[in-house]
Amino acid sequence: MIAVTGATGQLGRLVVTGLLEAGVPAGEVVAVVRDPQKASDLADRGVQVRQADYSDPAALQAALRDADRVLLISGSEVGRRVAQHGNVLRAAQSAGVELLVYTSAPRADDTSLPLAPEHLATERLLGDSGIPAVVLRNNWYLENYDQAIGQAAATGEVIGSAGNGRIAAASRADFAAGAVAVLTVDQPQPGVLELGGDSAFTLAELASVVAEQSGRKVTYRDLSAEEHARALAAHGVPEDVAGFVAAIDRSIGQGALDTGSSALSTLIGRPTTTLANHVRDVLAR
Ligand SMILES: NC(=O)c1ccc[n+]([C@@H]2O[C@H](COP(=O)([O-])OP(=O)(O)OC[C@H]3O[C@@H](n4cnc5c(N)ncnc54)[C@H](OP(=O)(O)O)[C@@H]3O)[C@@H](O)[C@H]2O)c1
Repeated sequence: MIAVTGATGQLGRLVVTGLLEAGVPAGEVVAVVRDPQKASDLADRGVQVRQADYSDPAALQAALRDADRVLLISGSEVGRRVAQHGNVLRAAQSAGVELLVYTSAPRADDTSLPLAPEHLATERLLGDSGIPAVVLRNNWYLENYDQAIGQAAATGEVIGSAGNGRIAAASRADFAAGAVAVLTVDQPQPGVLELGGDSAFTLAELASVVAEQSGRKVTYRDLSAEEHARALAAHGVPEDVAGFVAAIDRSIGQGALDTGSSALSTLIGRPTTTLANHVRDVLAR
C-alpha cells in the first residue's frame, strides 16, 4: 500500500495520478486528505481516500495503518509544520512502514532560505525515527513564476531583488514524477536527493525568455530588498508577505536555489521542463 498525504494539493494530485499511470492498482493507493469531498474524483477511480488532518494523531494512525510506503508532502501551515509532520512520522512508525519519502527544501541544512528551518527540523525528526527515508529536497516550482510571467508580458518588466542568483526550478509535474519514481522503485536507496531543473536561470534570463516568447521588450529591474517589498506592497501584496518574498529573493541572490544537478532528470528518465516551454504554456493560457 502506498499512501500520499496532501493528496488534494497540487503536487499530491499529480503524484496520485502518476502512481496510477505507473501501473500501481488504484486499490493500493491511499490518498490522505483533510477534506474527502475534494477527493471524490480520486475515490471514483478506486483510490482509497482517508481523512486525516496533520494535527490529528489518531486520524493519521488510522489512515496509515496498513501503509508500506508513505509520501509525506510538507504542509502549508507555516509555523505549525514541525509538530504536524511529527504526527505523520509517529503514525508511519506505528504502521511499521518500510519507506517514508518527504518533500523538503533545497540544501535544507545549509541555506538562508526563510522556509528551510521547518524542513530541516522535520528531516531531523525523520532521522531520529529510524524509518528508512528518502528526502526529496525539491527546488522551486516553475509555477511559482506564473504570475510574474503574465505581468512581465503585460508590463514589460520583471521585478525582484535576487540579483544574479540562479534558480534551478522544475515543474510540479517533474517533481511529482520524481516522487513516483522513488515510491515505486523495487529497492529504494535511503538518502537525500537535491532535485531541480536541468538548467538554472536568473530573473534577468526569465525576462529574456518572456521577451522571446511574447515578442515584446521585457527587462529585469533588480531592486534592493526594501524597495522590492515596498513595490509589492504598493501592488496590494500584504506587508508581511511582501517582506517574506523579498527575503526569499535575498536568499536566491546568495545562491540558495543554485543547486545545479541532473539528479531529477536522471530519476525521471527525461529532461526536466524547460523555462522556455513553461513560459510558452503560461502565455498561451
Ligand atoms: N518547491 C516549491 O516551490 C514550493 C512552493 C510552495 C509550497 N511548497 C511546499 O510543497 C508542498 C506541496 O506543494 P503544493 O504546490 O502541492 O502545495 P498545495 O497545493 O498548497 O498543497 C498543500 C497540501 O497540504 C495539505 N495540508 C496543508 N495543511 C494540512 C493539514 N493541517 N492537514 C492535512 N493536510 C494539510 C493541503 O490540504 P488541502 O488540499 O485540504 O488544502 C494540500 O493538499 C506545500 O505544502 C509546501 O510545503 C513548495
